[in-house]
Amino acid sequence: MLSYQHLYHVGNFADVLKHIVLIKVLTYFKSKQKPLCFIDTHAGSGAYRLHSMEAQKNQEFLNGIGALWQQIRLPSGVAEYVDLIKQFNQDGPLRAYPGSPLIASSVLTASDRLFYYELHPAEVTILRSCFNKDKRIKIFNSDGLRDSLGLLPPIERRGVILIDPSYEIKTEYQDVVTALIALHKRFATGCYVLWYPVVDRLRNRQLERALQNSGIKNIQLFELGILPDDQDFGMTACGMIVVNPPWTLIADMQQILPWLAATLGVGGQGKYRIEQLADE
Ligand SMILES: C[S@@+](CC[C@H](N)C(=O)[O-])C[C@H]1O[C@@H](n2cnc3c(N)ncnc32)[C@H](O)[C@@H]1O
Repeated sequence: MLSYQHLYHVGNFADVLKHIVLIKVLTYFKSKQKPLCFIDTHAGSGAYRLHSMEAQKNQEFLNGIGALWQQIRLPSGVAEYVDLIKQFNQDGPLRAYPGSPLIASSVLTASDRLFYYELHPAEVTILRSCFNKDKRIKIFNSDGLRDSLGLLPPIERRGVILIDPSYEIKTEYQDVVTALIALHKRFATGCYVLWYPVVDRLRNRQLERALQNSGIKNIQLFELGILPDDQDFGMTACGMIVVNPPWTLIADMQQILPWLAATLGVGGQGKYRIEQLADE
């Protein structure tokens, strides 16, 4: 049984990086004014309360969205993200945090289709309650890594697929590569956005090497670290691997990542990586 609950970690530095990249990618596709298919293979519950007992336990959001909330001078990509989170906190103080399903549905338009997969029944119940009357959205209580394959290639021929597992099972580092290869085989022009944590750097090297050896082209990596690598600490960094990224993304992240590393790095130890893992 899955034990991971995103509510304990919501709004932390990992959500900041993930959701900034997601907004940048979706905004780029939206600018083309053609219908898009968006798939979130690990959707979570969609909506989170930061004053809940779970979010308050470690208050991870304080070194995430909380550290950006009151800042006046933000790089434009970060400001875009904070402004979107503010739409869910109209009263003023930071109380609510939208997950990737609500973020995507806010960015995308009436002509787009959105598919959300979530395995945990309790999370699915909350997720469904977020989107009662939104006809664009279909929610499945099933395995997104396995079942999203059936949606590809989408009729729109334009698609963004977010893959955001918790990596609570160690085999997930291999499972995501296997799934990505299968999805890419069905829909080679899709834009795939894969989140990963850095807990044990060896696993990340293996993940990156497996993707480089997969034959998939045009892969970029964007990583944000708040502490030096330390196997005994937990998550010290995380990243987004993007297959077929918008051509504008790398320049955006060159502005955003140094600022995030300086702002969220603990005791000046923040760092970042921007790499072309596979050429076009
Ligand atoms: C990191 S959270 C998702 C957070 C969400 N994407 C966001 O950014 O707001 C991972 C979620 O995936 C769910 N999950 C785990 N394995 C899954 C699978 N194979 N298919 C669908 N959901 C899965 C977990 O229950 C958990 O809610």
